[in-house]
Amino acid sequence: METVMTTRSIAALGLLLATTTGAFAQQASDTVSPERATGFSAAKVVTAKAHMVAAAHPLAAEAGEKVLAAGGSAIDAMIAVQTVLGLVEPQSSGLGGGAFLVYYDAGTKRITTLDGRETAPMEATPKLFLDETGQPLKFFDAVVGGRSVGTPGTVMLMQEAHNRWGRTPWKDLFAPAEKIARDGFAVSPRLASLIAAEGDKLKTFESTTAYFFGADGAPLKAGTILKNQPYAETLSAIAAGGAPAFYTGAIAEAIVDTVRMSGKNAGVLALADLANYQVKERRPVCVSYRALDICGMGPPSSGAVAIGQMLGLLENFDLKALGKDNPESWRLIGDAQRLAFADRERFLADTDFVPSPIKGLLEKTYLGERAKLLDGDKALTDDAVTSGKPEWDHAFNFGRDAAIELPSTSHFVIVDKDGNVVSMTTTIENGFGSRLMTNGFLLNNELTDFSFKTHDEGMPVANRVEPGKRPRSSMSPTIVMKDGKPLLAIGSPGGSQIIGYVAQALVAYIDWGLDVGAIVAMPHAINRFGPYDLEAGTDAEKLAEPLKALGYEVKIGDMNSGLHAIELTADGLKGAADPRREGVALGQ
Ligand code: DON
Repeated sequence: METVMTTRSIAALGLLLATTTGAFAQQASDTVSPERATGFSAAKVVTAKAHMVAAAHPLAAEAGEKVLAAGGSAIDAMIAVQTVLGLVEPQSSGLGGGAFLVYYDAGTKRITTLDGRETAPMEATPKLFLDETGQPLKFFDAVVGGRSVGTPGTVMLMQEAHNRWGRTPWKDLFAPAEKIARDGFAVSPRLASLIAAEGDKLKTFESTTAYFFGADGAPLKAGTILKNQPYAETLSAIAAGGAPAFYTGAIAEAIVDTVRMSGKNAGVLALADLANYQVKERRPVCVSYRALDICGMGPPSSGAVAIGQMLGLLENFDLKALGKDNPESWRLIGDAQRLAFADRERFLADTDFVPSPIKGLLEKTYLGERAKLLDGDKALTDDAVTSGKPEWDHAFNFGRDAAIELPSTSHFVIVDKDGNVVSMTTTIENGFGSRLMTNGFLLNNELTDFSFKTHDEGMPVANRVEPGKRPRSSMSPTIVMKDGKPLLAIGSPGGSQIIGYVAQALVAYIDWGLDVGAIVAMPHAINRFGPYDLEAGTDAEKLAEPLKALGYEVKIGDMNSGLHAIELTADGLKGAADPRREGVALGQ
């Protein structure tokens, strides 16, 4: 689980970057707020006329911005951003992981969603995460090692998107990350603190230990200049040979060997899984909310459907009049989220394998009926929070799921000079993924996003492991449309809390009129399964007593969002980065 950066470490990153990088770094140190998100204070809003990137690390945003400044498209910049992130924020996303892309094309005025989610190997069985006695494995016993590694999708996603919308030659887009990998980069305070917090887990495998720890076994310190020659070579091979250089040949063989020879937790990924991997275009899930259209990623992500359900329930109430400081708003938001999660755990999974009633789940009549459950003035009791009966024509039901999801991941947004928009959430799942590393990048543990249990009360679980299937995700890359034009691109990391982070930001933007700087910094209050999670050290704590009085159990703790947003206004672009992480918005 990733930990939240301290005030000191955020300030230190500003300093570090100011001394290690060029012109963009000056902007970067400006935009990294030295303050923890407290109260409803906002992150700095960066403005630009032509193009912008908001991403989780200044070097990644800078690489993307340079591509845009040279006339590249948003998709070109995406490749530069992703390849730098995989180097400087390796714990969160990279070549060994998967991603979802929500893309608005200014030429066709259409939104396309591409699914670069990892797949379960063809040799995987539904019992992948059960022990010899049929009991679910402990989470980290399942995560660490080859068992959890799915076929990576991010490289194919980059290739597919570039084939469709790229402008800059493919091979040129890998140069920024390759150069940084060869020259070295300063380990950020966040990365250093996460390595230190990992302890022995990250020392399970030799190549990972050698990269993240010094010769004396000490975790790398912030500011250490880290080079990654194998990563540079991997990028150089992909630049020259395209995605096939990753999915076949020496790199594919190294991935498979690493997974299959990882000791007692070895996995079953095979060369054929890599060679046959496909990115899938999925139908975007768009819901209307107060005259706007909120568009995002459908299954295998549960993100857009769950957010759509929450908003569809909340549309029946006047949140604007109630206001952001009113516990009644949070009762409605919290219970709308619990109802959405009750449907999510029963109905949502990879629709190539299980029929999900997406249309029924988002129907206004269904949600209008279900919204009546919120008419009371107290928190719903646990018994009242059950899945509903959406309309659908598939005659069977699924058991409730027990997927365990813990925080890591990255979200970035890009707008180019032509108005093309990228909203992409990208991950290797847990912080440092499976902890296995090969060719300079970490391998994902995405398969632990499946339900470990295969059945519940005699019914199969929709999100159980099956060969070739994609684990259900919560990632919610989103583009908000107004009158057919993009208005806001946003998303966040945070495991299953992503849904709440993004939904809260949308309500804050749409109902409460907060700007991008305020919505990414706003203290979090999230309710997925009953207890109300409130963000420690912020004004969200003020909700604790009123929410308890409404009948909620309240938990106060760190909440690790990484919201990045760009607003497209008549006057230009406005972007902001979540002050809880190291990200920035940069633009011109
Ligand atoms: O796909 C998912 O929903 C998760 N694997 C994402 C993991 C994540 O966001 C962890 N976050 N901080």
